This record gives sequence, structure tokens and C-alpha cells, in this order.
Amino acid sequence: MIVTYSIYIVDDEQSVREGLAMSLEEDYQVKAFSTGEETIDAVKTNPPDLILLDIGLPGMNGIEVLKKIKGICPDVLVIMITAYEDINTVVSAMKLGAYDYIMKPLQMEGLEATIRNALETIRLRKEIQFLQEKYLTENFPCFIGESNAIQDVMELVGMVAKSPNTPILILGETGTGKELIARAIHLKSPNFKGPLVTVNCAAIPRDLIESELFGYEKGAFSGAKESGKKGLIEEAVNGTLFLDEVGDLSLEAQAKLLRFLEEGEFYRIGGIKKLNVKTRVVSATNKDLDSLMEEGLFRKDLYFRLGVVKVQVPSLNKRQDCIIPLSKHFLFEFSRKFNKKFTGISLKAKDALKSHNWTGNVRELKNIIERGVLTSKGPELTIEDLGIEAVGRSPASEQIGVKTKFPPIPRGGIDIRSVQESLEKYYIEEALKMTGGNETKAAKLLKINHHTFRYHRKRLRTK
Ligand SMILES: Nc1ncnc2c1ncn2[C@@H]1O[C@H](COP(=O)(O)OP(=O)(O)OP(=O)(O)O)[C@@H](O)[C@H]1O
Ligand SMILES: [Mg+2]
Repeated sequence: MIVTYSIYIVDDEQSVREGLAMSLEEDYQVKAFSTGEETIDAVKTNPPDLILLDIGLPGMNGIEVLKKIKGICPDVLVIMITAYEDINTVVSAMKLGAYDYIMKPLQMEGLEATIRNALETIRLRKEIQFLQEKYLTENFPCFIGESNAIQDVMELVGMVAKSPNTPILILGETGTGKELIARAIHLKSPNFKGPLVTVNCAAIPRDLIESELFGYEKGAFSGAKESGKKGLIEEAVNGTLFLDEVGDLSLEAQAKLLRFLEEGEFYRIGGIKKLNVKTRVVSATNKDLDSLMEEGLFRKDLYFRLGVVKVQVPSLNKRQDCIIPLSKHFLFEFSRKFNKKFTGISLKAKDALKSHNWTGNVRELKNIIERGVLTSKGPELTIEDLGIEAVGRSPASEQIGVKTKFPPIPRGGIDIRSVQESLEKYYIEEALKMTGGNETKAAKLLKINHHTFRYHRKRLRTK
């Protein structure tokens, strides 16, 4: 494909305009203007690739025109044309984002080389953009977002991803897609060529988190590697550091992280050399940081540093329009994976999906569809396959919650998934006891189908 670059020439001297236009017309699309005002109007409607801009224009001078152009279209490259005596102004122009400058009287040889360099820069930029888009479409896991609530979130994410250093804090209930959004931020940002380093702050033992994040020098502590070790922050240089479950960081690690965010510098444990690493910090948590801050378990100053931009991911219950598209997406994904031939979801099953109380959000929906696909033949996914009821929001919690008083959450938090599992296990065992071990009857008592019952029984290794 032959790409023709477009160049604007802006000079009040007719001879300069005509001379330049004549020598460039053969290879490029050229337009000439004698004033800044005309040029700005043209940039607004039809921005070129490159502008050769005289500094000493009458009326609005070249520097002001440059400022306006960069405000309208920051990607346009601008080469300033100047007389010798304007050298101080050239410096200001370069600071304002001019690509280069050429001196009057113009010498064609030098001018051609400068233009060639500028156009090569443009070509490379376009290539990078093309490759980034290609990479994105090939690598980004499908993100389903049909409801206005999630589309607003993705719009914000698309905007903030572009500024490569802004820290972003993603908040939302478990299973709402925070990790997927963190990956989207990385892939959509200029840092996408760098690494995405994910740190699960809850999974690393508290006494190791500092050395994992900041690294250590040899002999820093007993058990340290001979050679010392790079920390995850260093690994994330020029990329994205994703601090998942950031609400689980110890107060000591929080203090160190805060220092790094404030100063951009840190020391490895046992190190004397200050390290300076550029990386974007994205963090996420499903914890209620407000309560943690009230209890003194999460630093307020760190909260503000991490959450320069806050992204609140809505729960699935608030994203009604997403439920069926997500279900279909997972149905086809698992159908393919398990070599089944599902063609769709029955009306009753759709109603049940829409009215279910999704406390585990998208993760819960994904698991239910996976189990449905695994445990039945199809071709339609039915309400029995889902093992949920079309009975409106929160039937279970209402049935239990009214009568039962649950113990309070301990200071160190609670693993909700294991609580949920124990509860499921308890009721499966109770149902078996009540029905003398008859699985079909036990499943009925728990209002799930036989397949689902057996699936849970196996998963939870019940008696
Ligand atoms: N919009 C979406 N489109 C497709 N898949 C999604 C979407 N949102 C979430 N998922 C899938 O749901 C599952 C849970 O998402 P994810 O791990 O990002 O949740 P999370 O908010 O990080 O949860 P937690 O707080 O428990 O860590 C993943 O398998 C993810 O791929
Ligand atoms: Mg997560």
C-alpha cells in the first residue's frame, strides 16, 4: 500500500511557501497557508501528518499557533521554521512539543532529511498503533458488557488507561471482573509493550510480601538467595504492577508501598542503592476499604495514592442487561471446551438467571453455566441444568437470614468462600440424613436436580 503523507506549509512569505510546495508536491499531499488562523481551522477539520510552521508569522505568531495545534491534535508533528535570531523562541517551541526546527534561509538537503525523519517517526507510530490494536483483539479475553452501568465503567477505563502513570484503584464485589479490567487497562495503555506483573497480596505470606515487592540484596536475611533477588516492582518496569487484593497488605508493607508511590524510589531489603522504577500501579480489592480505614487496618494516605482514579465495578445484580449475554457467552465457551452441542438457553432458565440473586457475581454465573454444560446433554440449557430457581432475589438469604443469627466477622476477616462451602456441605449432609441417603430425594429437598446434587456432593467430598 502506498501511503501519501499530508503536509501543511505555514509561512507569510510567498516565496518560501511556493518554493517549499514545489519541492514537496511530487512526493506528498501539500497545502500552504499564510496565517496561523487559517491553519488552525484546517487542522480542526482535516489534521495533516506534518506541519512546517514559521515562527515569525504576523498576527498569531508561530508559538501560539503551535500551542493551539497541540491542543487540538497532539499527534501532529510540527517542524518550526525560524531565522537565526529566533533561537530562544526555538527552545520554547521544542518545550511545547515541536518535533524539530529548520533555519532560514532554507537548504533543501537538510530540510529533506528533517522531513524524512519526521515521516519515519509517523510511520513507526502508526505501525505501533496497528500492532497494539491487532494484539489487543487477539489477546484480550472477551469482555461482555451490555449494560449501561458496565459501559460507563469501560469508557472510564479506556480514558484513564491512556495516561501511563496514573494509579488506578478498582473496587467491587467478588467476581465482578476486576482482574479482567486490570488486564484491559494494561493492554489499552502505552505500557502494553512492558510486562503486566500481578501480585496477589492475599496469597503471599505477610512476612514475605516486602521481599517479594521490593526484592533484596545478597545476605539480607537468613534464607535469602545468595545472588539477591529482584522485586516484583522492578519486574514491572515500564509496564503495569497489578496489586490484587490490596486490602490484605500488612501495615508495614503499606508504609513501604506508600513511600514508593510518593517518591517513585525504593531500596531493596538490605540494599543501599536507591532504585527508581517507572511503572503504573493498578490495585483491586473486594474488601470494604472504608471500614478497614476506620479500623486502622488500611492507611488513608495510601488509599488516596492508589486511587487517583477509582473504578467502581457494579455488581451483576445491577447489570441486568449483561446476564443473558454473559450466560450465552459462557454457554458457547464451555460447549466448545467440553465438546458439547448446546444451541441456547430455555425461556424458563433465562427467567431464573435474570431473577437469581448473584452474590458471587459473574464468577458464580460462569460456574453455574460450566456445571450445567458439564452435567447435561443439551441441546438447550434448562432450568434443571442450572440448579437455581426462578423465585426472585435472595430467597435463600431471606429464608435463613430472618431466623438465623450468624457470628460476626473476626478482625482478621473471613474467607467467605470456605464459609459458603461449609454451609453447602452441611445442608447436603443434612438432606442425606433426612432422606436416609436417597440422593434423588435429598436433591429435591435442596431444590436442585440430581446431577447438580451429585456434582456438589463430589466437589465437597461429603459423607
Ligand atoms: N464482563 C465479563 N465478561 C466475560 N467474563 C467475565 C466478565 N467479568 C468477569 N468475567 C469472568 O468472571 C470470572 C471472575 O472475574 P474476576 O476474576 O476478574 O473477578 P474479580 O472481581 O477479580 O473477583 P475477586 O474479587 O474475587 O478477585 C473470571 O473468570 C472472568 O474471566
Ligand atoms: Mg480478583
